[in-house]
Amino acid sequence: MKIFLDTSDVDVIKHHFQTGLVDGVTTNPTLMMQAGRNPVKVISEISSLFTANASISAEVVADTAEEMILQSEQYHSINENVTIKVPCTYEGLKACKVLSDRNIKVNVTLIFSLSQSILAAKAGATYISPFVGRCEDNNIDGIDLISSIRRVFLNNLISTNILAASIRNIDRIHDSFKAGADIVTLPPKIFEEMYKHNLTDQGLAQFDKDWKELNK
Ligand code: G3P
Repeated sequence: MKIFLDTSDVDVIKHHFQTGLVDGVTTNPTLMMQAGRNPVKVISEISSLFTANASISAEVVADTAEEMILQSEQYHSINENVTIKVPCTYEGLKACKVLSDRNIKVNVTLIFSLSQSILAAKAGATYISPFVGRCEDNNIDGIDLISSIRRVFLNNLISTNILAASIRNIDRIHDSFKAGADIVTLPPKIFEEMYKHNLTDQGLAQFDKDWKELNK
């Protein structure tokens, strides 16, 4: 049961990394655009925080598998914990197969169906990323999709990790894990919400008050 952060903001990652509860990071071109920095530098800074067995996803953006593979070389040489993220397309799956055969970890992203998951697993993906929130935006049950993928992977002894992405609220974290996700990747704001509860705040306020009373 792993938690990744879904962000390219290095300072925010550094902050949450200190909890010891973050197992990896996912980035994508949109998150890189928001960070407004050189992606290779960003991946290099993030990956240096983590141990070798963590996973830092760096997404390649190209029209052909050959170009994706070429781009991936730059990311892969940064650190062994860098995972190459490719889209679930004809070219992306071709790239996934080649990279996986070279023992390079690949995260196949933008997964919206069981068929895509099966092909990504056959292409050797270490991770597949079903987009729960965007499924729901399009009237697809993202949690049911995760359950189906889990069932098929179990039946066929497939070791590809299910990385639930596009998570926009706490309930979908719970639902994803209950449905069999190995990992959820969270916007930092949602990660912060995980440890918050109004009853914890209320209880703590009372304990603080009583402690002060005792020490008067
Ligand atoms: O991990 C994928 C994520 O960055 C997309 O999230 O909320 O834009 O669908 P969202």
